[in-house]
Amino acid sequence: MTRMTVNGQPVHYRMDPRTPLLWALRDASNLTGTKYGCGIGMCGACTVNLDGRAVRSCQISIADAEGAFITTIEALSRSRDHPVQQAWIEKMVPQCGYCQSGVIMAVAALIDGNANPSDDEIDEAVTNICRCGTYPRMREAIRLAAR
Ligand code: FES
Repeated sequence: MTRMTVNGQPVHYRMDPRTPLLWALRDASNLTGTKYGCGIGMCGACTVNLDGRAVRSCQISIADAEGAFITTIEALSRSRDHPVQQAWIEKMVPQCGYCQSGVIMAVAALIDGNANPSDDEIDEAVTNICRCGTYPRMREAIRLAAR
C-alpha cells in the first residue's frame, strides 16, 4: 500500500508501487483533469504539483511519491479563482484544451515561487507542448497572472 495526500485527502493506493502517479490519479482517484500525452516526460500534459513543485506524473512512480502532498488541477482553486486560471480565462488561452491543465499547473508552481518571472525563467519552467500552438496567448496570460 502506498500512502500520500492528494488534494488535501489522505490516499492509500493498493497498486503495484511502480505504477506511474499519473495512472493512480486518473484510474484509482478518478482525477481525470491530469492528462496522458506522451508517457515519456516530454509533453507536460500530466503535470501536477508535488510538494510545491511541478512534476510530470507519468515519470514518477507512486513509490517515489510516498508521503508526498499532491495537488492536481481539480484542487488548484475552489472555483477557478487562482490567478493563473483567471488569466487563462481572460486571455482565452485554450484551443482544444487537452494540454492546458498541465500548463496551468506548471505556471502556477512557477508563479507561486517567483511572482515576477523573467522570459528566460518562464522558458525554463514551462516546457509543455501545445499542439494547437497557443504559446503566444500562454505568454500573455503568464504575464497577466504574474502582475
Ligand atoms: Fe507525461 Fe507527456 S504524458 S510528459
